[in-house]
Amino acid sequence: MSTAATHRHAKRAVLRGTLVAAWMVIVAHAHAFEQHTAHGGPIKGLALSPDGRWLVSTSFDYTAVLWSLPALDERRRLVGHEAAVNAAAFSPDGQLLATAGDDARIRIWRLAELLDDRREPEPRVLDGHTAKVVHLAFSPDGMTLASSSWDHRIGLWSVPDLRLRTFLVGHDGPVNVSQFSDDGASLYSAGADGHIRLWSVIDGRQLTSLTNHGWGITVMAVDEARDLLVYGASDGAMRSRSLSGTRPAVDYVVEGKPVLALNEDRATGQLAFGSSDGRVVIVDSATAGIVHDFHATSGPVWALTQLPGAASLVFAGLDDHITRIPLGDGVQDADDPASARRFHPVRKLSNGERQFARKCSICHSLDSSDRRRAGPSLRGIFGRRAGSIDDYPYSPALAHADVVWDEQTIDALFRDGPQVVTPGSKMPLQRITDSRDRHDLIEFLKTATGTPTTN
Ligand code: HEC
Repeated sequence: MSTAATHRHAKRAVLRGTLVAAWMVIVAHAHAFEQHTAHGGPIKGLALSPDGRWLVSTSFDYTAVLWSLPALDERRRLVGHEAAVNAAAFSPDGQLLATAGDDARIRIWRLAELLDDRREPEPRVLDGHTAKVVHLAFSPDGMTLASSSWDHRIGLWSVPDLRLRTFLVGHDGPVNVSQFSDDGASLYSAGADGHIRLWSVIDGRQLTSLTNHGWGITVMAVDEARDLLVYGASDGAMRSRSLSGTRPAVDYVVEGKPVLALNEDRATGQLAFGSSDGRVVIVDSATAGIVHDFHATSGPVWALTQLPGAASLVFAGLDDHITRIPLGDGVQDADDPASARRFHPVRKLSNGERQFARKCSICHSLDSSDRRRAGPSLRGIFGRRAGSIDDYPYSPALAHADVVWDEQTIDALFRDGPQVVTPGSKMPLQRITDSRDRHDLIEFLKTATGTPTTN
């Protein structure tokens, strides 16, 4: 690839972006951003089923939600992961759904079970990674599942018997994404070491490094039929190059914030990128022209996908809802004051309330009617036995802990950390080392959680 050509193409893409942006201002229509809520925390991943009938969102609240399309109605809530759920993928036949999370585990769900309301779904658990799993990909024949993990490895799992086949070892850092070749014989992977590597699936050997970007690669999509290798990186690069090396690389944007999300709409060849500053850029891979470039939200875009027909886009991020945007002419920047965001209040707070807002509210409500968060409601926590809310799925460790929550035990919980006070609990490791902050937090909780009740 020649650098001059790269720059020439980059300029063209950027120039088009500017033209589109200018034109958008003239014909700006008020497009409704439609919000759908089913989670109790920020949303990290989205996956569309192959037939376009289902969408899955995965959340910080330890659950995944199955939505039916086109209405985006909540169909089923998938409970079982013991930490944030990062990623989901449907098998090519649409029968299986894989989810994976910070608990380093993968769960395999049967769609038929999820659609049967009389049954509790019984996912199979794939255990073997030693750090969070952030991406999942099925092989085109559906026989192998690839899991990308921050333990620096890619797991290859045999789908019929749900067993580990092998780990691919060679990335020098967390692996963020992988994708099988169309014939299923090789696997592309990318990670924080900045490399896109190619592996032989048959014997697990690394064949080559296709790219060394220098900065961590966060997202990637391969389209062999279009001869495209597309990726986004932590330095803001949104780049595509040809797999065969016959065309120069194209930088769709030259300067930007870290890229966190990428989705290719295979039918149209459009690529949608999302950034940590809420920017969404949609490009036509054939012409390298920018189709849309707007700010969808004031926080990060952690996941996005175009819905079938490419007429709308769903994205997710810091909010507990997914948002659908119609992709008509001239999508406007979101009217999204940060003050509207539930987990990041901007009004002036006391230190105790601020501690709660920043460190607890993402997982705990103070209201016993909100049951969608990762942790149990803290309503009436003072005087409550540990693990005593009836319908909350506690870990065995907390369910059997011999602790009553009061000023001293809550203070100890965050002075020493949950791993010391309630070992084996699924509350994440965290300590509040400043005794003033702990004191203020507890004073706030005393008034905000109401009088002691058993819920
Ligand atoms: C990332 C999610 C998360 C965050 C952040 C979090 N917690 Fe938790 N918390 C949990 C989970 C999950 C449980 C249940 C643990 C289990 O079952 O093992 C829990 C349990 C608890 C319990 C025990 C409740 C009971 O019914 O026994 C208390 C008290 C608690 N958390 C307080 C806090 C406070 C105060 C903060 C902020 C300083 C906080 N947590 C931050 C997820 C979280």
